[in-house]
Amino acid sequence: MFQGKTVVVTGAASGIGAATAAWLAERGAEVLAVDIHPPRREAGRFLQADLSDPGSIDALVAALPAGVHGLANIAGLPPTRPAAQVVAVNLVGLKYLTTRLVPKMADGASIVNLASLAGLGWSQPEAKPAIDASEQLDFAGVEAFCSRHGIEGARSYFFSKEALIVWTLRNRWTWRDRGIRMNAVSPGPVDTPILKDFVETLGARAEEDMRTMDRPGRPGDIAPVVAFLLSDEAAWIRGSNLPVDGGMYSNLLCQMHGF
Ligand code: NAI
Repeated sequence: MFQGKTVVVTGAASGIGAATAAWLAERGAEVLAVDIHPPRREAGRFLQADLSDPGSIDALVAALPAGVHGLANIAGLPPTRPAAQVVAVNLVGLKYLTTRLVPKMADGASIVNLASLAGLGWSQPEAKPAIDASEQLDFAGVEAFCSRHGIEGARSYFFSKEALIVWTLRNRWTWRDRGIRMNAVSPGPVDTPILKDFVETLGARAEEDMRTMDRPGRPGDIAPVVAFLLSDEAAWIRGSNLPVDGGMYSNLLCQMHGF
């Protein structure tokens, strides 16, 4: 399915990124595995980069070959980390890498952003001012942006995913003339090293979620969906945000709308 395709996977050292890199490599892709930490099990060629540092991203883009067919933006920090770092990695770094890599990508390439069920609030009117303002956000402005918009503590994670979903929707046709498309995947709770961070942050709500779900997700539930969106078979899916959450999003929608 991925023979002859070169795919960049960020966050490839752990969890969902590691599972995605392995899934793609097993199906013939040449995987360029990006992370700040070296992977325990290598799938593809490892390239070390810090996605909170524009200099490191510039060096990464320079080291990547021309004609990349896919970019899976999976690296992310959990809500327990300092707010500015979370926004820098989950949003600003992701956008910086993507926009710099697009000119080097092959026509018809696919970009997949790992958002989250936690980004569900993107459509709430109160979320809009900060999301709009984040369109112009750069690394140097992250601290000031967070204090201006009251983005502190765990809110940074929710905000980063809300803004990422909107960025994905907004850029549904940005590179359409080259056939390059971008989509998001929004998992519910997935059993990776950061699941405990979500449980810690959400407290009683996480316990309620765990009771509602039959089981938490596994990295192997998410990787094939990311791979499908990267594949040529998904060519007409553009600017979408796909929930992969055991039905959690549908459950919330039914509750919200009284069905
Ligand atoms: P993880 O912690 O297992 O993997 C995240 C990877 O990102 C790690 O290998 C880490 O080293 C890397 N990373 C962090 N900061 C970086 C930086 N500055 N530069 C380069 N790499 C960096 O977590 P997991 O669960 O696999 O998360 C992957 C993505 O899925 C994240 O974007 C997360 O927000 C999202 N997600 C996770 C959910 C979960 O319940 N585990 C639920 C919904 C979304």
